[in-house]
Amino acid sequence: MRYRRASSIVLRIVNNEIQCYNFIQKKGKSLSIEELNFVKEMNNWVEEIDFLSAFKELSLERIAGKIFALTEFGIIIKEHSPAEVDDSSYKENWKWGDSAGLYHFSIKNNKFISERQQEESFARSLVEKAKKTPSPAVFNENQNKYQTVLNYEKPDFDKGIFKVMKRRRTIRSFNPTGPLTQSELMQSLFAGLGIVSFRNVDPIGLLPLKMTPSGGARNPYDAYIYCLNVTGLEKGIYHYSPTEHSLGLVNKENLPTPGDMLGSQPWINNASAVIFLVANINRTMWKYEHHGAYRVMLIEAGHIAQNIILAANALGFYGSPTAATYDNIIGDTINGELGLLHSCVYAVALGHLGENKNLYEQ
Ligand SMILES: Cc1cc2nc3c(=O)[nH]c(=O)nc-3n(C[C@H](O)[C@H](O)[C@H](O)COP(=O)(O)O)c2cc1C
Repeated sequence: MRYRRASSIVLRIVNNEIQCYNFIQKKGKSLSIEELNFVKEMNNWVEEIDFLSAFKELSLERIAGKIFALTEFGIIIKEHSPAEVDDSSYKENWKWGDSAGLYHFSIKNNKFISERQQEESFARSLVEKAKKTPSPAVFNENQNKYQTVLNYEKPDFDKGIFKVMKRRRTIRSFNPTGPLTQSELMQSLFAGLGIVSFRNVDPIGLLPLKMTPSGGARNPYDAYIYCLNVTGLEKGIYHYSPTEHSLGLVNKENLPTPGDMLGSQPWINNASAVIFLVANINRTMWKYEHHGAYRVMLIEAGHIAQNIILAANALGFYGSPTAATYDNIIGDTINGELGLLHSCVYAVALGHLGENKNLYEQ
């Protein structure tokens, strides 16, 4: 059996200990200086026998335990193991460096505070926090700050485009019996991801131009739609193809609830459809190897979601966003179509307003 050092590890020193953390596997352990010295040389595959010569003073049993622990906690990778697949993919494909990698992979699949009890304790702790450390101001004013301040009348937001924009609200009470039509769903998808024309860029090829801007027209996002209550569509997860403007049924078996895919938020279960915006990171990374492009990728999800939501508002229903995405559950539900370089960054739940008609009390 052969082993090599994991590619996605970082070191930090805490309380006199050297802690090593694998940010893809999201685990780690503290290392002795001897272990660190050995692991630092493991750029290439080493045999089990090499551990014997490095840790001569230890019994075979202790060495076996060490190899097990280093593997188990993600410090080293066993050849032909599932961990090797992700590790090699990261090593070969991830161009945005370990700082962006650490951030990106560490924030995936974490439990969000949303279950009832946790929500209540979160609300309580927020009250305590506000008493001790008041919230920073969530708006800035020009009066009393700048010498020259120009005041204008606000536009009439009951007219034109503002009328639709003004309607946008995050609702958390959907009408479980008020379906969306296929046309309504498809129009919302088109607003966010639909292609209006192409630009031919030699030698790259055709780049889609959409109603949302995309850094370098790389268009990293794919949409998967969980259709729960869309007239004439069987319940299931569909993939949207913007070139065809079509839906492809990906999976209709053993589906978790959308709430379970999105931070355990039960209010999402009454939505008629939920759009998962999945970044195909390699599309952006292929052109922009600089880690600043990580931001570009995230920002684009906001543009797309906003257009989807505004189209929904124009058509008479609502779109509520959530970034509490569980990539692992979403990936399983989408039949494993999501690899290491995919991430569900954002989602929008669509539907009609439910019982709680007061938009501001949800
Ligand atoms: C990036 C982002 C993530 C959000 N995630 C959640 C979420 O997980 N759950 C939720 O209930 N609302 C979520 N929201 C909605 C905000 O809570 C909501 O926009 C905010 O309370 C203001 O209300 P409004 O959208 O009606 O203006 C999110 C909004 C944004 C922009």
